[in-house]
Amino acid sequence: MTIVFAIETSCDETAVAIVNDRQVLSSTIASQIPIHQQYGGVVPEVASRQHLETLNWAIAQAVEQSGLDWSQIDGIAATCAPGLVGALLVGLTAAKTLAVIHKKPFLGVHHLEGHIYATYLSEPSLNPPFLSLLVSGGHTSLIYVKECGVYETLGETRDDAAGEAFDKVARLLKLGYPGGPVIDKLAQIGNPQAFVLPEGKVSLPNGGYHPYDNSFSGLKTAVLRLAQQLEKQTGDIPVADIAASFQETVARSLTKRAIACALDYGLDTIAIGGGVAANSGLRKNLQAAASKHNLRVLFPPLKFCTDNAAMIACAAANHLSLGHTSPLTLGVESRLSLTQVMKLYH
Ligand code: KG4
Ligand code: ZN
Repeated sequence: MTIVFAIETSCDETAVAIVNDRQVLSSTIASQIPIHQQYGGVVPEVASRQHLETLNWAIAQAVEQSGLDWSQIDGIAATCAPGLVGALLVGLTAAKTLAVIHKKPFLGVHHLEGHIYATYLSEPSLNPPFLSLLVSGGHTSLIYVKECGVYETLGETRDDAAGEAFDKVARLLKLGYPGGPVIDKLAQIGNPQAFVLPEGKVSLPNGGYHPYDNSFSGLKTAVLRLAQQLEKQTGDIPVADIAASFQETVARSLTKRAIACALDYGLDTIAIGGGVAANSGLRKNLQAAASKHNLRVLFPPLKFCTDNAAMIACAAANHLSLGHTSPLTLGVESRLSLTQVMKLYH
């Protein structure tokens, strides 16, 4: 039983949670989305200032909701990489300060390791090895999860991340920010077969295509051309049909590669994480393909697909139970590969 308090401020959510191993005792998420919406995307400096304003409130809420006092908490953690440097600094500095005041072990956590651990919150019996499909605003990766802290990247995106593609397509269809949830909702009333859009493929130097890498920038350009062409011809853009066709193409592309990767590496479980894991088209596609191949697909609870601190606390609890702690000199990093996770710990 390891109880961890964690802070997540890597992007546009100020989140604090307390988790007992894989059980969430409290979780507060203060979203900045309405603030950034007016700019059409996240403004880093605005995000840092907003974290500063909200964090003390979020900390107090999470502690009160848990019914615990600091003496019952075993460790204090925060996301330290990757993410917006100023935003990360707010959470990491607060966590270090709390660790010193309350004389608790301190842990820095890799944001993507947190997204992998989000699935443990709905499936506490899950254990490695398994394949993780991480699909967020900044990443699209297929990760071989070998054990806590030990990861191998098997597939990536060559250009846009899946969430970024949703956000960019939503912007060009003038649907606002963030794009994923809006496109997902519109897709429910659109026809996914209305338009045939190109699935991005990544060429290999010696011929053929990479079996697990995705590419979304060509798809985004195809959507732009289609919208422009339809508007010129008919004076109208059928946004629901375009949204449904785009979502179907992304879901098919991610599903095909995840299934191939799991089968090739003999992994019977695919755990999906990150904001795009909330996408209904991807969930349906992946579930259907996996059951054909007798593979198990696990999703985090919807509220823990997008950024939250419960997933960070869960990852930290596992590290702490193995005796891993971070030095108080640990800094933040805007980029850090998942394969480098163990360099965060003593
Ligand atoms: O994991 P996350 O909250 O932040 C990052 O670590 O990037 O993911 C945010 C991304 C955004 O690009 C957003 O548009 C996308 O996740 N997203 C979705 C859905 N909900 C959020 N994409 C597709 N369908 C959704 N339902
Ligand atoms: Zn994230």
